[in-house]
Amino acid sequence: MTLETNIDPTPKGEVENKDKTKSVFVRTYGCQMNVYDSERMTGLLKPLGYKAVDHAEGADLVILNTCHIREKAAEKVYSDLGRLKKAKKEKAMQGGEMKIAVAGCVAQAEGAEITKRAPQVDMVFGPQAYHRLPEMLAKAARAKGKILDTDFAVEEKFDRLTTRKAEGPTAFVTIQEGCDKFCTFCVVPYTRGEEVSRSVDQITAEVRSLAAQGVREVTLIGQNVNAWHSAPPKGHVEIKTKPNNNGVWGLGSLCRHLAKIDGIERIRFTTSHPRDMNDDLINALAEEQKLMPYLHLPIQAGSDTVLKAMNRGHTADHYIKLIERIRKARPDIALSGDFIVGFPTETDEDFEKTLEVVEQVTYASAYSFKYSRRPGTPGAAMAKQVAEPIKDERLARLQKLLEAQKQDFNQKQFGKTFDILLERVGRHEGQVIGRSPYLQSVHIDAPRDMIGSIVKIEVTGVTPNALSGRLVDR
Ligand code: SAH
Ligand code: SF4
Ligand code: F3S
Repeated sequence: MTLETNIDPTPKGEVENKDKTKSVFVRTYGCQMNVYDSERMTGLLKPLGYKAVDHAEGADLVILNTCHIREKAAEKVYSDLGRLKKAKKEKAMQGGEMKIAVAGCVAQAEGAEITKRAPQVDMVFGPQAYHRLPEMLAKAARAKGKILDTDFAVEEKFDRLTTRKAEGPTAFVTIQEGCDKFCTFCVVPYTRGEEVSRSVDQITAEVRSLAAQGVREVTLIGQNVNAWHSAPPKGHVEIKTKPNNNGVWGLGSLCRHLAKIDGIERIRFTTSHPRDMNDDLINALAEEQKLMPYLHLPIQAGSDTVLKAMNRGHTADHYIKLIERIRKARPDIALSGDFIVGFPTETDEDFEKTLEVVEQVTYASAYSFKYSRRPGTPGAAMAKQVAEPIKDERLARLQKLLEAQKQDFNQKQFGKTFDILLERVGRHEGQVIGRSPYLQSVHIDAPRDMIGSIVKIEVTGVTPNALSGRLVDR
C-alpha cells in the first residue's frame, strides 16, 4: 500500500471526494512529542486529499496541537481560537467551511470545556486519539454536534501509524509516551497518561524506513526516555548488546541496536530523568560513538526540601554524583537541563542552592521557568505559594547565570574541529546550516547538495546563538 498509514482513507465512503484537494493548517505548541504528533497527523491526512499549508486563513481544516504545561501555553490556545473564529466566519461568507480541531494536551485536560468556551471548535481530541482522525473527520462532516475523543490507547495508536515519510536528514522518533512520576508541579501524567514504551520491533521498523529515505540522525523522544524498556527484538541473539538483569532491554541496549542500522550515523535522546539513568545507558554513552555527547537531564531545583516537595525522588547530591559518573564515562559530554523557580515553599536559601548546582554542573544550555500553578496538580493546592515578583527576580538571576554559561560554552568551541550534519539551507546564498554534536547551529558555506552529509568543520566564529565554520579536509 502506498498510503501513509494503514487506515482505510475512505472509511465506508464517508469522507468527502478524495480528488478535490483540501488544505490543512497545523499549529504546534509545546514539546517534541507534539512536533512528532503534528507531523504524523499531516501524514495521516495526506491520503484524504489534505495538503499542508502555512497559514490558517482560508484553510479547510485547522488543527491546534496544544500544550498544557504552563498557564501561558494553555491560554495562548484561546487567543488563537479567537482569531480563528473570524477566519471561520470569513470562509463561510465565501461559501466554504473551516473545521477547527483542538488536539494535544489542552484537549486532553479540558475536553468538552473547550467547545463550551469556544463554540467555533468542531473537534477536540487528545494525544492518544489522533490516529482516529479520518473517522472523526467523517463524523464531523455528517453530524452537526461536536466531536470529542480523549481516550487513552497508546498501543493502538502506534499500531495504526505505520510507514512515515522523512522530512530531511534528521527525525524525531517517539519511543515512549506518558509518565508515572507525578512530579507535583506537572500535568504530563494527566494529559499523556501512564508511561508506555513502544516495542523494539516497531521502533526499529520506523528507524529503518527513515534511514532508507536518507535520515542520518534520529532523536528518540519521550517524556522519560530513559524509563523506556521492552523485550528484545524477536529472534535476536546478540552478544554485544547488554540486556539488564531480567533480560529486558533498556534505552542503552536500544541505542546500541539502532546504531547498527545502515545509514544511521547519529543518535540523540530526550528527555531523561535522573532516577532512571542506569549503568547500561551510561556505558552505552561511553562506548557507542554514534550516541551524541549531549544530555538533557533536568534537576528542576537545587534544594532537597524543594525536590522532596516536587516529588522528584532524588536529591541534589544524587544528581551531582550522577553527573560525575556520566562525565567520567564520556568526558566530552555537554549537559542541558530544566529549572523551575518559585515552587511552593521555596525560600531564598533554597533558591541559592539551585544557583549552587548550576555553578557546580555548568550547563551548555538550559530552560528555566517560573512555577505555574496547574489545576488538579498537588502543587497547585500547596500552602506557601511564592509571590510573582519574587519568582521574577529569581528567574532573572538564574537566567543570567545560565546564559553566561551558555556563552562560555559556545566560546570554547572557537578553533575546534568536529563533525556536523548538514541539515538545511541557510538564509544567505551559498550558506548551509548543520548541527554540532552539542546541538549548536553551525553556519558554513557549502553547496546545497551536501545537505544530508556529515562533514568536518573548523569553528571560525561564535555569535550568541550560533557558530560559523569552514569545511576542512578529512
Ligand atoms: N519529562 C520531562 C519534562 C517535561 S515538561 C522531565 O521530567 O524532565 C518540560 C519542563 O517544563 C519541565 O522539565 C519543567 O521544568 C517545566 N514545567 C513543568 N511543569 C511546570 C509548571 N507547572 N510550571 C513551570 N514549569 C513547569
Ligand atoms: Fe512531568 Fe515529572 Fe513526568 Fe517529567 S518526570 S513528565 S516533570 S511528572
Ligand atoms: Fe506540553 Fe503536553 Fe508536551 S503538556 S510539554 S505538549 S506533553
